[in-house]
Amino acid sequence: MSRLAVNLPGLKLKNPVMPASGTFGFGENPKYDLNKLGAIVVKTTTKEARVGNPNPKIALMDNGVLNAVGLQNPGLERVIAEKLPALKKAYPTLPIIGSVGGASEQDYLDVAQKLSASGLVSALELNISCPNVKEGGMAFGTVPEVAQQLTKAVKAVSSVPVYVKLSPNVTDICAIAKAVEAGGADGLTMINTLMGMHLDLRTRKSVLGNLTGGFSGHGILPIAIRMIYQVAHVTSLPIIGVGGIEKPQDVLEMFLAGASAVQVGSAHFDNPVICPQLVEQLPALMDELQIDSLEQLHQEVLEAFKNEN
Ligand SMILES: Cc1cc2nc3c(=O)[nH]c(=O)nc-3n(C[C@H](O)[C@H](O)[C@H](O)COP(=O)(O)O)c2cc1C
Repeated sequence: MSRLAVNLPGLKLKNPVMPASGTFGFGENPKYDLNKLGAIVVKTTTKEARVGNPNPKIALMDNGVLNAVGLQNPGLERVIAEKLPALKKAYPTLPIIGSVGGASEQDYLDVAQKLSASGLVSALELNISCPNVKEGGMAFGTVPEVAQQLTKAVKAVSSVPVYVKLSPNVTDICAIAKAVEAGGADGLTMINTLMGMHLDLRTRKSVLGNLTGGFSGHGILPIAIRMIYQVAHVTSLPIIGVGGIEKPQDVLEMFLAGASAVQVGSAHFDNPVICPQLVEQLPALMDELQIDSLEQLHQEVLEAFKNEN
């Protein structure tokens, strides 16, 4: 096995790097051969098409990105009929992770069932962490019992592994992680954006049409690391780490916190080829740090966590 390869439920990846949901569309108009990626996570899909929140939806800041896109997407029908088949046709061996959104439990179930039955995705990511929609989204990811129930229901209608994407906008991330593990999740993706706001001194108004948004980018890396580290100590679920990655060092730090794959989001705004660059740069850094393979590093990290207790 190659030194960058990683294995997670439903995902045999040649490297651990994938673009995060919402920051890479459905892989349209790529700037490089997407076969260089470990996998691709597509935009969160809802039952009906959504135009999203009022403009402006994105504010690029010095230290990160504030967004209130509001799950703008073409809707389940078009995603299954057009977006995913086009991606699959262009990249038949690239694992695709579908992202499931909804405003009610029934919405989530419809989207999860149809996406997994389409045969076009290797896994699902259950987005219970979007801070930018009024109903649903984060409301399902902040109360442990609700998160557990939704996970259980989605698992019952899904024929592929389900990764639950957690929100950092909670007081006890471990309680949510344990709840979705009890609900039968196959893995976790963490973290989504942190709720934030930016006011323009001249207009005296928010820079976003939605007023508040989700903050992401390099500044949230320590928060993601802390949460992944805590959760890796209380669940045995595989974790896909996301939040603030922009360098190969950040990828390995995610592994040290307990992750076994990573996603990259906001870094795309400055550098559209960030993912293949990370893949290219990882081996030299691993040489420097005497890391033979990522799988071995992950096993060593888990072993060290076990021996702490
Ligand atoms: C413009 C934008 C749109 C996003 N849309 C989604 C989305 O549709 N679904 C989702 O689960 N996360 C979405 N996210 C969150 C990212 O997938 C990721 O969890 C978050 O940005 C943290 O990673 P980063 O710091 O590398 O950006 C979005 C983030 C940004 C910046």
